[in-house]
Amino acid sequence: MGRVIAIVNQKGGVGKTTTTVNLAAYLAEAGKRVLVIDIDPQGNASSGFGFDTKILNQGLYEVLLEPQTTVQQVVKAHSDNLHLLPSTSDLAGAAIDLVGQHNREFRLRENLREVVDLYDFILIDNPPSLGLLTINGLVAANEILIPVQCEYYALEGLGQLLSTIDLIRDNLQPELKVLGAVLTMHDSRNKLSQAVFEEIYRHFPHKIFRSVIPRNVKLAEAPSFGKTIKDYDHGSPGARAYRRLSQEIIIS
Ligand SMILES: Nc1ncnc2c1ncn2[C@@H]1O[C@H](COP(=O)(O)OP(=O)(O)OP(=O)(O)O)[C@@H](O)[C@H]1O
Ligand SMILES: [Mg+2]
Repeated sequence: MGRVIAIVNQKGGVGKTTTTVNLAAYLAEAGKRVLVIDIDPQGNASSGFGFDTKILNQGLYEVLLEPQTTVQQVVKAHSDNLHLLPSTSDLAGAAIDLVGQHNREFRLRENLREVVDLYDFILIDNPPSLGLLTINGLVAANEILIPVQCEYYALEGLGQLLSTIDLIRDNLQPELKVLGAVLTMHDSRNKLSQAVFEEIYRHFPHKIFRSVIPRNVKLAEAPSFGKTIKDYDHGSPGARAYRRLSQEIIIS
């Protein structure tokens, strides 16, 4: 059975999608079979892999809300061993449409059952909230990876995230564990970034991956070409950092 990892932080713009897309690319490069699930209505992971969410006629919404639609019907192939379950714009309504439904927190988990054996890694890119879509992402996962941006308010909100994870473990998914945090957008020349870095090391109660992702403009440019950093500029510092992170995650 594959490892299912949710990439979560309710704070916006901390590098969840960048981490999901590029980690997936390097796990696939290492020969792993990878599925990325875009559970964010913004669709950034889908467009980051070069898929136009406006012209897709099926996505995660149908999987979550239409009993006849299966994951395998909707999955797109980026390459042989890197697949995507895309988001479409109607996913924004899913959180509301799910509210009255039976087993609403388990919809993603139940739907993934048919594919967990087909992949080594399933990575779930979550939206910046702790709403019902993210809860579906957490309940479907066994492990949680938390991107933390090296900035002044980095730790704010992490307490709330960790207690939400505890609640989900106690009530919905007893196997859920925190894999660790990955520090993103680190700028070694910036004193504030350095101070925040040390602060996180002192206070974060779980593992922090040794691979720290630098602030690197190539990482920000790649999605506008619909490319992962591996295909856009594999020698850039950002690419090398995500490659190292993928190796750390494979052995952790
Ligand atoms: N290491 C980095 N260096 C430079 N730019 C980065 C880096 N990581 C992410 N970015 C850029 O910062 C912005 C936010 O990153 P990203 O979209 O990955 O965050 P997110 O947590 O998924 O955001 P949201 O909460 O909106 O889903 C994007 O424009 C992205 O290209
Ligand atoms: Mg995102």
